[in-house]
Amino acid sequence: MNSLSTSAVSPPINKPSRAVGTNLPTLVFDSSEDLARHVAQLVAGIIRERAAHGQQAVLGLPTGSTPVGVYRELARMHREEGLNFSNVVAFVLNEFYGLARDQLQSHHRWMKEHLLDLVNIPASQVHVPDGSVPLARVEEHCREFEAAIEQAGGIDVLLLGIGTNGHIGSNEPFPGTTGRTRLCTLDPVTRRALASDFYGEWNVPTQAITMGLGTIFDARKVLLLALGERKAGIIREVAEGPVSPRVPASYLQEHADATVLVDAAAGSQLTSSQTPWAAGKVEWSDALIKRALLWL
Ligand code: GLP
Repeated sequence: MNSLSTSAVSPPINKPSRAVGTNLPTLVFDSSEDLARHVAQLVAGIIRERAAHGQQAVLGLPTGSTPVGVYRELARMHREEGLNFSNVVAFVLNEFYGLARDQLQSHHRWMKEHLLDLVNIPASQVHVPDGSVPLARVEEHCREFEAAIEQAGGIDVLLLGIGTNGHIGSNEPFPGTTGRTRLCTLDPVTRRALASDFYGEWNVPTQAITMGLGTIFDARKVLLLALGERKAGIIREVAEGPVSPRVPASYLQEHADATVLVDAAAGSQLTSSQTPWAAGKVEWSDALIKRALLWL
């Protein structure tokens, strides 16, 4: 008899569809749960594969609402399936400048609550930019963060969320493309989006320490995640638009192994969702013919 009780067996993940006509490989999932489980399995696969060779798995991790499901699934895999994180080295993408590590809104605290306290990554293998270092020491701190990534052998897989203005990490529109970890200024759009977390926009820090686009580019594999209709417009720009400094995430089109993973809502403005006949070959059903005629 199978030793797993049926309740412990996760239902199969509905396969994503691959959007056609994009400049970046783009996978569209039916639901955010499917996306989260797909990404968690991919990360778990890298952790296990590295462990089998006695190596460390180096992860780059974002905060925000988007990766919550992935972290929840990874924590479940640790708890229920014994996924071992002892070989993981984790680098968190960014941190608000001026916040102490244990402050309510700090990324450090957030990561502890959503992942680090729920799995067994040794504390010495967790790196989060420190938003409380004095200004005079920020550059040195950023260099140390970069050196730690290099010493770990570079990032194997970097997960990213995206802001509605196309920012990744805290690389706001018009970033330098070769930038390394540094102190940067947050865009008003980003600060407005964070207002409720800080009980008012005026309380949102104006700066953050973030991995730069250069740091992000050096990751061997990049997975850009987006959920919900709010992200649909920017996802279309990132996946189908030109590479532009106005949309920092669009630079991922030049990365050798970057993939966009979205739920159906975040993918709803992709050409292959909106007007599939314009994205390439389609199988014409009655419903699709009707849609195309209405569109005309
Ligand atoms: C914030 C963070 C990003 C995050 C983005 C999207 O500004 N600095 O790292 O990816 O916003 O957040 P969410 O996933 O909550 O939409």
